Amino acid sequence: MKALIAVLAGDGIGGEVTAEAVRTLERVAARFGHTFEFQPALLGGAAIDATGEALPAATLALAQRADAILLGAVGGPKWSAADAKVRPEQALLQLRKSLGLFANLRPVVPHPAVLDASPIKAELLRGVDIMVVRELTGGIYFGEKTRTATEAVDVCRYTVAEIERVVRLAARLALGRRRKLCSIDKANVLETSRLWRSVVERIMPAEFPDLQIEHMLVDAAAMHLIKRPRDFDVIVTENMFGDILTDEASMLAGSLGLLPSASLGAGERGGLFEPIHGSAPDIAGRGIANPYAAILSAAMLLRYSLRLESEASAVEGAVSGAINSGALPADIISAGERGAVAARAAVTTRAAGDAVLARL
Ligand code: IPM
Ligand code: MG
Repeated sequence: MKALIAVLAGDGIGGEVTAEAVRTLERVAARFGHTFEFQPALLGGAAIDATGEALPAATLALAQRADAILLGAVGGPKWSAADAKVRPEQALLQLRKSLGLFANLRPVVPHPAVLDASPIKAELLRGVDIMVVRELTGGIYFGEKTRTATEAVDVCRYTVAEIERVVRLAARLALGRRRKLCSIDKANVLETSRLWRSVVERIMPAEFPDLQIEHMLVDAAAMHLIKRPRDFDVIVTENMFGDILTDEASMLAGSLGLLPSASLGAGERGGLFEPIHGSAPDIAGRGIANPYAAILSAAMLLRYSLRLESEASAVEGAVSGAINSGALPADIISAGERGAVAARAAVTTRAAGDAVLARL
């Protein structure tokens, strides 16, 4: 297959981890006989420095043309002053909105070899396999914002159509898994949540009678994610709840550095794939960032935008093998081992990438 892949490395460690994801995709192309063309473009702080805009028109045009987008991370102290007129994060939000990427898939599957990297007891983590589907182009992120000297307002709005499409997507994913869908809202307080719940209650029995559906309030969900994470299969929730819960859920896997994500729209083409971690300015440029989340995002790119399932599984297997072999970047070496006399040495970003390539 031929595919054009836009590479938006962004800021901080974005460039370092994306480079490993690209190397992985190049190896996949060589081994499975595909032709991937990679085209880089500026995004976030790097783009602000070069053009004054977080999402330059040329970058958006490339993203719209591409078969899939690989993204690193955006942001950094340099661009985050409280009075900054243009922020790197705007680029992400504009990209999601202009490309219609309404569903954000964030799988959380703790790797058995690094359960002790998690602050949560290993016995609670064994067998955890969660797919969070976060609504990505609606809600409080995109409602009107106003600000006076004494007041600030963020509007949270959802339409029935916006809820239906993301709930259907999550339900279809659940059909291919353990057939459990947990819809998370705050229906005891928020009107948007009451609408959300009524849409789920209507769609599920009518269109997905084989799914087991559960409604959960977001505060309770935050607790149950830690208390009994194994019980969750697919979670579907609105934009901001999904943002918060997925950072929480990442601790089940031990590190943000292990979690990939896919942002999808109505068609297969043109999905956006990025690690859920940020630009980590504190360790940028040192070659020690964990590239596995970026590489696993490349696997999701293969699966969801290019429909190359065997290739995606091969990459996931290679990452898993690399972790099993002990190629662990600093963030997933457990606290216990770090203190131990014979502590394992953390591998560099490049060495972790090499460990994956060696298994492909
Ligand atoms: C995420 C990030 C973004 C979000 C920020 C950087 C705008 O936290 O992708 O989860 O809140 O959506
Ligand atoms: Mg977030």
